[in-house]
This record gives sequence, C-alpha cells and structure tokens, in this order.
Amino acid sequence: MYEKILYPTDGSECSKKALRHVVEIARKFNSRVYILHAFPFIPEYIGSEYRQKIVSQSTLESERITREAAEVLDKEGIPYEIEILEGPAHKAILNVAEVRNVDLIIMGSRGVSALAGVLLGSVSQRVVTHAPCPVMIVRGEEK
Ligand SMILES: Nc1ncnc2c1ncn2[C@@H]1O[C@H](COP(=O)(O)OP(=O)(O)OP(=O)(O)O)[C@@H](O)[C@H]1O
Ligand SMILES: [Mg+2]
Repeated sequence: MYEKILYPTDGSECSKKALRHVVEIARKFNSRVYILHAFPFIPEYIGSEYRQKIVSQSTLESERITREAAEVLDKEGIPYEIEILEGPAHKAILNVAEVRNVDLIIMGSRGVSALAGVLLGSVSQRVVTHAPCPVMIVRGEEK
C-alpha cells in the first residue's frame, strides 16, 4: 500500500522524530523512501561567482542533513533515494510527490524556525493543503 514514502527533512528535531515513523512504516510495507531536502533559491543578481559559492555551501549542508537520515535507513536495510533541490521547500515536496508518484508523505509539524504557539509550520501547512496523497504529520515537543 505504501510502496513509496516521501520524507522531507530540514534536519530539525521534529523531522528527526518523523523519521522513526518512516522506519516503522517502511519496514512493514517494504517501502522505498525518498529523502528530500530543499535549500532556498539563490538569485542570479548576486553574481555568478558568489552564487556558485553559496550553492556549493548549501549543497554540502543539504548532503549532511540527508546523509544523517540515510544512515538510519541504511542500518535498517530500507532502500532509499536522496533528492536535493533548490527552491521553496513546499514546492519541492509537492513536485517530488507528484513526479515520483509517492503513496505517503511523512514530515514534522514544525521545523528549524519553530515559533511558540503555532501548531503547523508554513511548509507542512502548504503540503497538507495541496498534497496528491495522504500526509502524516508528526508533532514535535510542545512549545
Ligand atoms: N527545506 C526543507 N526541506 C525539506 N523538508 C522541509 C524543509 N523545511 C521544512 N521541511 C519539512 O516540513 C516540516 C515542517 O517545517 P516548517 O518549515 O513548516 O516549520 P517551521 O520551520 O517551524 O516554520 P516556518 O518555516 O514556516 O517558519 C519539517 O519538520 C520538515 O519535515
Ligand atoms: Mg521551516
């Protein structure tokens, strides 16, 4: 039923908590997991040399975040692919969900910029609103 699971992560505690659910469900359903991190779009106008530098740094950081999740899945013997995209996170998530035709998205309710008192971050809110498949939102610690 859940052959393909999309796991978007920003490296936050909340998304790490969501990974535990990814593991449990992937084990049960022999799922393939798409680990996704999106880094912000860097505009052309800042100059190609400077832009390239920031893109490289962002890519390295994205690799670190996705590798952390990949190591967990490796230990569990769960097959996965890593997607690193430039642009707004909700667009990247919705795009990969559609292109890869995933059956389930598992993500945190909040991310790195958690504001006190707000239940859903803007990324998770946009994803639940527009996703083409079911979305499991894992709540973090109370703020
Ligand atoms: N850049 C990203 N790449 C991949 N997944 C992301 C990214 N940002 C957020 N997510 C996913 O969305 C979940 C919710 O994060 P979200 O960004 O919506 O909350 P926030 O950071 O607390 O608030 P906001 O970003 O709206 O200020 C995260 O736990 C993670 O699963
Ligand atoms: Mg965020």
